[in-house]
Amino acid sequence: MNTHIEKIDSKKPEIEKIKLAAELIKTGELVAFPTETVYGLGANALDKNAVKKIFIAKGRPQDNPLIVHISNIKQITELVRTIPPKAEKLIRKFWPGPLTIILKKSKIVPNIVTAGLNSVAIRMPKNKIALKIIKESGCPIAAPSANSSGKPSPTSAKHVYEDLDTKIPLIIDGGETEIGIESTVIDLTTKIPRILRPGKITEEEIQKIIKITKKSHRCKKTKSPGMKYKHYSPEAKIIVVNKKISLKKIKEQYEKDGKVKIILEKEGTKNTAKNLFKEFRKADKEKVKTIIIRGLKKEGLGTAIMNRLEKAATKIID
Ligand code: TXA
Ligand code: MG
Repeated sequence: MNTHIEKIDSKKPEIEKIKLAAELIKTGELVAFPTETVYGLGANALDKNAVKKIFIAKGRPQDNPLIVHISNIKQITELVRTIPPKAEKLIRKFWPGPLTIILKKSKIVPNIVTAGLNSVAIRMPKNKIALKIIKESGCPIAAPSANSSGKPSPTSAKHVYEDLDTKIPLIIDGGETEIGIESTVIDLTTKIPRILRPGKITEEEIQKIIKITKKSHRCKKTKSPGMKYKHYSPEAKIIVVNKKISLKKIKEQYEKDGKVKIILEKEGTKNTAKNLFKEFRKADKEKVKTIIIRGLKKEGLGTAIMNRLEKAATKIID
């Protein structure tokens, strides 16, 4: 299959390009498009054959459920059994935006989307291109991150192309994504909600709106199936340094094994989130053997970054 990349104006997305994407979605094909977090690989969420293509293109394990993206709050009502007041509060505060909410699913959501679970993850992205594609398609769009399974999430169309060339018909190129790490996932199917994946919307921000189990994403049993897989990993080893020690010294220790690179030194948390996955991919291209990165404080966005780093790390120096 020929993979076409279509550049689009992120501020004023051209309608004919939105239509090009929507037509493919309507006919059961896959389209990669930007969201405010990372690029997604979308298919009509209500068409099980289309959704199946996502798993094949990514090489994604079938037991890892997908997020369903909507463009209008009304769309959620047909996808879930009920919308509890806590969900309403979160929706009002954070949608459109990088918060994925898990609720009990309705019958119209195919089992392949939820990997057989009786819950469904839903998110309304805050990105003009994504919202317009969903709206024009006229259906909710199931979309995981548009990387090959096991690779870091893509933050540009180029990353998507590296992973999915020949596997999908179209990539909508809206430039680099703004946030750079995936959405916060919160489970509202339990009595006390909990965060399954930390992201841009922080635990602290959510606590202000509803009561949630504290530090829930650190609990042993994985409820979000995707979190058990090795993720976000470049080929290079990753050394996370929390200890107050010079990174140069650590670098010297690893130089006998091959090329070593210190990444994102002295970047703030915002830029670290935005550029983390890009730096991982870049290091692999440069044949780096060991990546060294300073650990961040686990607060605010730092919690989400450390979650990704700890999953990818070969070693953490405390
Ligand atoms: O920012 C994002 O969330 C991006 C953009 C494209 O929206 N999407 C994304 O999707 O990161 P994905 O598939 O790479 O990650 C979805 C996560 C996985 O860890 C998956 O296991 C979890 O959400 N998930 C999905 N449905 C679930 C459910 N019903 N119960 C528990 N976890 C669920
Ligand atoms: Mg993913």
